[in-house]
Amino acid sequence: MTTQQDCVAIVGSGAMGRGIAQLAAAAGHRTRLVDARPGAASEAAVAIAAQFARLAEKGRMTADAASDASARLIPCALKDLDDADLVVEAIVENLEIKQALFKELEGVASDGAILATNTSSLSVTAIAAVCRLPGRIAGFHFFNPVPLMKLVEVIPGLRTAQPTIDRLLALGRAWGHTAVLAQDSPGFLVNHAGRAYGTEALRLLVDGVGDVASLDRCLRDQAGFRMGPFELLDLTALDVSIPVMESIHAQYYGEPRYRPSAYGRLRLTAGLLGRKTGEGFYRYEKDQAQVPPEPAPGLRPERAVWVQPGRAPADALSALLRAGGVRLAAAPGDGALNVLMPEAMDCTDAALAESLDPAETVAVDGFFGFERRIVAMTNPATSAETKADAHALLAAAGKPVTFLRDSLGFAAPRVVASVVNLACAIAQQGVASPDDINRAVQLGLGYPQGPLTWGDKLGAGRILALLQALLAATGDPRYRPSEWLARRAKLGLSLTALEI
Ligand code: NAI
Repeated sequence: MTTQQDCVAIVGSGAMGRGIAQLAAAAGHRTRLVDARPGAASEAAVAIAAQFARLAEKGRMTADAASDASARLIPCALKDLDDADLVVEAIVENLEIKQALFKELEGVASDGAILATNTSSLSVTAIAAVCRLPGRIAGFHFFNPVPLMKLVEVIPGLRTAQPTIDRLLALGRAWGHTAVLAQDSPGFLVNHAGRAYGTEALRLLVDGVGDVASLDRCLRDQAGFRMGPFELLDLTALDVSIPVMESIHAQYYGEPRYRPSAYGRLRLTAGLLGRKTGEGFYRYEKDQAQVPPEPAPGLRPERAVWVQPGRAPADALSALLRAGGVRLAAAPGDGALNVLMPEAMDCTDAALAESLDPAETVAVDGFFGFERRIVAMTNPATSAETKADAHALLAAAGKPVTFLRDSLGFAAPRVVASVVNLACAIAQQGVASPDDINRAVQLGLGYPQGPLTWGDKLGAGRILALLQALLAATGDPRYRPSEWLARRAKLGLSLTALEI
């Protein structure tokens, strides 16, 4: 077990190195700071001490604790790391440069010291492969900003010894973070699990299902994501996120689940990077996204609505419409607007299955209920008049209404099914345990729920049915259900259930 007496050294005192050093010093370790750029380690020590002083001002630590923690920060040279018990590398993301540093560290640190890398995209096994003692080398992957993102992935390389893993897990926890174990694989756990959200949203955009603002509204208001996928892409910036999408896709030898969007690359080429360049999927004025207003409904027509019965969301929608003063028809026909609520069908097939006139028919998404928004979609035959009528009539339910074009699984169910399916694929590959997948994704990506628990709550069978329908309709293997999902859905088991 690593103790407070242990000396921790951080090599690379940039954004990540500073955060990690702050944790180590606050936890009571003598903390050495090293950087190749002259003066950088001292600057980092000053900046971290200022951070401790701010925390003391805010009452988050005592003044004594802040000055003690600051006194434990020691800028030094690489050759002075002979007393380090743990070295965490946080230098430039380049395999050859990291390998050279680890070889050099082996000549300086004692043989009992653990050497860890904070790499986010390089193989831990590859870094350790050039070293004399690969058993004491592992990934120790923090997230930015380190003190606030209370998660760390511990990543054993193929030759890492168990005591190294145990010590890093214990240390991560002792520093107040949730420590999860992740396999040495592209994207490790969190950056791998995060591939579905933006990728599927870009697919919906490119397929013309909805515009940027509409898709963001669906994902925020229906599924409960803190940020819509395009807001998030604008915040991260395309010069970061598109290369990550492309790199993970390439590292998995073209696995279709991770296939990025050509349109994303085109926007990057155009320099539409996001917030930091003032224009991405949204334009920014004084750092404020210029979001187009919600399309307003017209005057409500004197037209009855027939809601396809048989499912709980249909009853809920009918009740909302009735309360809003809308006349409900008992059967389709006689000029009524037809509202279908398909789950694993698009509006076109749902209208044909019910032998309804597609021109008079729209579909409403019942997957997530109607608490904050009603999402409807047309089919290619829906008349402009029917769409306008449907907008005004659905708006009587007292919620904002978004219209999409025909899409199997609308927008939010399709994206969430992709998120759950990817988490299942990650579980199937043994990248991490189901519990760690749930915890790490919630903490690291800020999703409203752990993806496996989310799948259980929504119903694994419903998600399986939607993915099977998407696969059949598009022929695109990105939608093929993970065996992990399919087996547990068929057996009625939780998506967190382990096989002996
Ligand atoms: P940064 O550019 O802010 O800091 C890197 C520091 O390393 C600089 O101060 C630089 O002078 C120093 N450096 C470069 N080569 C060196 C060498 N050979 N020896 C000693 N010092 C050297 O970079 P950042 O963002 O802190 O990233 C560091 C590492 O953490 C990278 O591997 C990155 O992939 C990883 N990471 C970054 C995250 C982020 O959001 N920025 C998140 C998680 C991991």
